[in-house]
Amino acid sequence: MHNTSTSVITIERFIMEQERLHPEATGELSNLLYDLCLAAKIISRHVRRAGLTDILGGSGTINVSGDLQQKLDMFANETVRHSVQHTGRICIMASEEDREPVPVPQDKPAGKYVLLYDPLDGSANIDVNVSIGTIFSIHKRVTPKHGTAAAKDCLQPGRKQVAAGYILYGSSTMLVYTTGQGVHGFTLDPTIGEFLLSHPDIRTPDGGKYYSVNESNWNKWTPAVQHVVAAFKNGDGPVQAKNARYIGSLVADVHRNLISGGIFLYPADARNPQGKLRLLYEAAPLALVVEQAGGAATDGKRPILDVIPGELHQKTPLVIGSKADVAFATAVFGAP
Ligand code: AHG
Ligand code: MN
Ligand code: MN
Repeated sequence: MHNTSTSVITIERFIMEQERLHPEATGELSNLLYDLCLAAKIISRHVRRAGLTDILGGSGTINVSGDLQQKLDMFANETVRHSVQHTGRICIMASEEDREPVPVPQDKPAGKYVLLYDPLDGSANIDVNVSIGTIFSIHKRVTPKHGTAAAKDCLQPGRKQVAAGYILYGSSTMLVYTTGQGVHGFTLDPTIGEFLLSHPDIRTPDGGKYYSVNESNWNKWTPAVQHVVAAFKNGDGPVQAKNARYIGSLVADVHRNLISGGIFLYPADARNPQGKLRLLYEAAPLALVVEQAGGAATDGKRPILDVIPGELHQKTPLVIGSKADVAFATAVFGAP
């Protein structure tokens, strides 16, 4: 059914209607979400034309996690920063691509929100035209209003997030977010430059048909991880055998499982004893989205949202997706 202009719901209209549910809302969070929509459109435009402009390939630098920074990583990082930094809605921001948090410059107004983000997730897939994403996490500042924001504002448990979401540059560009009132998905209509509501109130199936893990790490896993992955591969007791899908972009793998049901795992292994993925701007925002959609996310032992961060780029094992699948895996990991 072709949407007529009267029936489409733009993300701006949706956010405004959500805001009306909260009489105390000042509109700052709504405006911050609009700012992120603008950044998403700009990044999407460049992702869609990456092969035609000099934006592919490495930038020749590495980030604090030791990853080679791609040109598009840096472009996306700057695009998000420039879309929010001057608005007076945030006091500090932290990115996968910056060693330290970036407080709003002294000469700019500081707002009450904190933005943590992975500007481009799945960087290894950029040059081979495979889906990539952007992940964002929004907290309220905890330091005094008129002081200078600090790392403490960033190091909050995921349960405290006021909003979280991601943009997926896939077969279409989608923005999926939650403010704790369910999960909603919007698809960018490039002909009008608007994100339109396409997936209202996303609920993830309790059990899923996919399992998603990098099996080349098999020999670095513990026996418990091997047992869990074998169960997803072959079926075991309550767990049905699942289809393997691994894109190598966390956002794409998590989104597929969110819609179709399934589980993604990036466990700790002999090479990554804390896991590979970062807590603050990968695991925690995606955990909030998945929990809000009826799924679950743990570090193999406890809910990701309950983990108290100690440092900005802290890594964590991640088990995320359909509730029954995550419960099975976490029970095996936690078994004595
Ligand atoms: P990023 O590009 O932001 O560094 O994230 C890459 C992450 C994540 O997107 C993906 O799930 C994981 O790296 C893939 O890692 P492996 O190649 O080790 O499987
Ligand atoms: Mn990432
Ligand atoms: Mn990244």
